[in-house]
Amino acid sequence: MRRSCTVFLTLLGAVASSLAAGVTVQKPSLTVPTQYASQKAAAEKIFTTSYAAYREFAFGHDELLPVSLGLGDDLGGWGASLVDAMGTLVVMGFDDLFLEAVNFTSTIDFNTPPVPQLISVFETNIRWIGGLISAYELSGEKFPILITKAKEIADKLAFAWIDGNAIPYNSLDFTTNSPVIENNNIAQIGTLTLEWAALTKYTGNATYKELAEKGTIAVAELAAPLPGLAAQSVDPATGQFTDATITWGGGSDSYFEYLLKYARYTNNANNIFIDTWKTAVDSSIHALLRTSTVGNWSFLADRSDQGLIEHVGSHLACFYAGNWLLGGQLLRNQTIVDIALELNEGCWNTYAGTATGIGPENFAFISADGNFTGGDAITADQLAFYNEHGYYITHPDYIQRPEVLESNFYAWRVTGDTKYLDRAADAIASFNKFLPATVAFAGLNDVNDPGAGLFDDMESFWFAEVLKYLYLTFDDPNHISLDTHVWNTECHPLIAPPALSSYQGSGTLIPPKPFTTPTPITPGPVPSPRTQPLGVPAQ
Ligand SMILES: *[C@@H]1O[C@H](CO)[C@@H](O)[C@H](O)[C@H]1NC(C)=O
Ligand SMILES: *[C@@H]1O[C@H](CO)[C@@H](O)[C@H](O)[C@H]1NC(C)=O
Ligand SMILES: *[C@@H]1O[C@H](CO)[C@@H](O)[C@H](O)[C@H]1NC(C)=O
Ligand SMILES: *[C@@H]1O[C@H](CO)[C@@H](O)[C@H](O)[C@H]1NC(C)=O
Ligand SMILES: *[C@@H]1O[C@H](CO)[C@@H](O)[C@H](O)[C@H]1NC(C)=O
Repeated sequence: MRRSCTVFLTLLGAVASSLAAGVTVQKPSLTVPTQYASQKAAAEKIFTTSYAAYREFAFGHDELLPVSLGLGDDLGGWGASLVDAMGTLVVMGFDDLFLEAVNFTSTIDFNTPPVPQLISVFETNIRWIGGLISAYELSGEKFPILITKAKEIADKLAFAWIDGNAIPYNSLDFTTNSPVIENNNIAQIGTLTLEWAALTKYTGNATYKELAEKGTIAVAELAAPLPGLAAQSVDPATGQFTDATITWGGGSDSYFEYLLKYARYTNNANNIFIDTWKTAVDSSIHALLRTSTVGNWSFLADRSDQGLIEHVGSHLACFYAGNWLLGGQLLRNQTIVDIALELNEGCWNTYAGTATGIGPENFAFISADGNFTGGDAITADQLAFYNEHGYYITHPDYIQRPEVLESNFYAWRVTGDTKYLDRAADAIASFNKFLPATVAFAGLNDVNDPGAGLFDDMESFWFAEVLKYLYLTFDDPNHISLDTHVWNTECHPLIAPPALSSYQGSGTLIPPKPFTTPTPITPGPVPSPRTQPLGVPAQ
């Protein structure tokens, strides 16, 4: 009886699962109209020019400073641009340059930075571990050395967990294998899961995944200022928040990003990730979503430590549109998709409104509930700009960030509306007009005043993110699809399992828990650094 019943249920299950196809993120049967072929070539041309200059003037260093032809080595000095560019080299089909990069990578010694400095767990994870594993997958798993090197650096970063803390520190001394004892932020804590789970997949060592998961879960389980919306700063020693600041911008951003992406990557093996993301989005719609009094542009405001709404936005935060598009599709929730598209319009407008057609690092706006930003009051010039454009610039530089074009890429792949292709083409034209620095491409000191000069840095994420998102926007949508891959926060796509038919998780939002804003305390004596190896229980 029991057996036949099981057989019957199994059959029923098989029928049900063949009927319930996996949820799709991209618009089905999407193709890029042929008239955009020249745009794909244009994105590739910017990449080849930039990479040739990097090879000639800065090979093996972290970054080329394209105006002075100097070298940037503040990411460890192990060749950040080269490692970050590897996936793009494969995607664009530059096999020889990729082989050269594999060769170089195989010689990196991660035991000591060539330029003495502290190493950021976050920055190193998203570029090196994400970049190496993605390149390994994209190149058909033919170069196991890429996994070996990812493992080597993860084994160094693993020293960030000490004293049995669930939450890692972020700054590491690679010579003593000891972290700097200081507060961490949720972006740095929560942006490890995808890469470390991938590393577990390829090494068979479950420790990586466990370490990354426990940090994120510890944050997600804390009482938050608003349901799902974690505060920004955490003391790893106490495992408690040390502030009440809420933002989708820097310092918090990719914690929220990875809650969703990790739910997709693991197909909801643990509902806490999707439940927390859904709750964060729901709280954001209720508490942070604002429209500008001029132009009716949508933005997600910040919420200060004191619980005040700050009418600010940033280039970094503009990833939220793409992230909400991904989540809205996975949850089959049109409300979230529609708001995401509005947010995407607000972010694109920060590009459309400037003299260069490139958006600023930080901006602010006014909504029906006022103009408080937590910073300086709006100036007359800013008010004039606001009255014309519906936002105003508070930090005018462009440092080759990708987020607006990242969200534009998601908007294209999800809706199939060619206006997003036109916007990507506009960005390419602006880059070609305003960013060339003799041998390569630089940033801008002021996106609204090209006369203010170039910003002398070519970021590793110019190769990894900006140019890969642009290229993929014009590439065959089935080549690397939002239905087959999950992108890490550095635009390194990782192979995802076939999608579930639903990502609803437990189906409920996380209820509020009593939250008291932490009172700032004078830091106590800093404990002496520890070099305790992992797996040894702390005393
Ligand atoms: C990679 O290294 C091998 C061995 O040193 C060498 O034979 C080969 O030419 C190199 N390939 C590239 C593309 O640099
Ligand atoms: C797994 O990785 C952790 C973290 O680097 C390391 O401490 C441990 O020795 C590894 N386990 C095995 C069996 O290699
Ligand atoms: C879609 O998301 C919105 C925003 O969180 C929520 O209010 C709504 O209940 C969701 N719809 C469904 C069908 O789950
Ligand atoms: C402003 O935009 C929102 C959507 O973001 C829309 O619901 C609302 O009707 C718009 N208001 C006006 C006055 O156009
Ligand atoms: C900004 O807010 C203050 C305080 O509410 C108000 O006095 C001022 O007029 C506002 N400025 C603008 C440009 O809206």
